[in-house]
Amino acid sequence: MEFMEVIRSRRSVRKYLQEQIPRERIEEILSLALDNTPSAGNRQPWMVYVTDDMEIKKALVRCAYGQKFIGEAAWVAVVCALPAESAGRYGERGATLYAIQDTASLITHIMLIARNFGYDTCWVGAFNEDEAKKVLKLPPDQRPVAIIPIGVGGEKPTKPPRKRKEDVLKFL
Ligand SMILES: Cc1cc2nc3c(=O)[nH]c(=O)nc-3n(C[C@H](O)[C@H](O)[C@H](O)COP(=O)(O)O)c2cc1C
Repeated sequence: MEFMEVIRSRRSVRKYLQEQIPRERIEEILSLALDNTPSAGNRQPWMVYVTDDMEIKKALVRCAYGQKFIGEAAWVAVVCALPAESAGRYGERGATLYAIQDTASLITHIMLIARNFGYDTCWVGAFNEDEAKKVLKLPPDQRPVAIIPIGVGGEKPTKPPRKRKEDVLKFL
């Protein structure tokens, strides 16, 4: 897909078709993102968990206050930040800012690369962090930042309105 089309056609999709995506394709999407996302000091303070297991997907739906479209998608990725990895070099700023920024950038890369292959995603940030940690059996130094369903979209949402450029963009 042409790059600008990837950017323009990505929408938060909350309905997925019962269509599979081969594991190799998901591996390709996640590998591309992991291999190319920038991070402060190249610390790569992240960990990605991905599953197509229905029981785990259902548990993640419960963590996310019943957002059931998570369970409809062929795969679900959970992207975690590792604040201690960034703190190692950058102290408090690394832990509270860089690790989260880096992880957010990784999430965006995953969503756009998935879109490039014609798949849809949604960044889900509304979930109970402690419950997600339990479901994924995360070590204490890993903080889940986003749950990302990746699947074949079953809807084409119109773009939610954006703020006026005059209000959010200023040339100096
Ligand atoms: C940090 C963050 C958290 C979000 N959490 C949720 C969520 O829990 N559930 C959901 O349906 N959408 C969630 N979204 C998606 C936004 O609602 C969506 O990006 C926004 O409305 C703009 O729509 P678009 O992505 O189609 O451009 C989240 C997006 C971001 C960036």
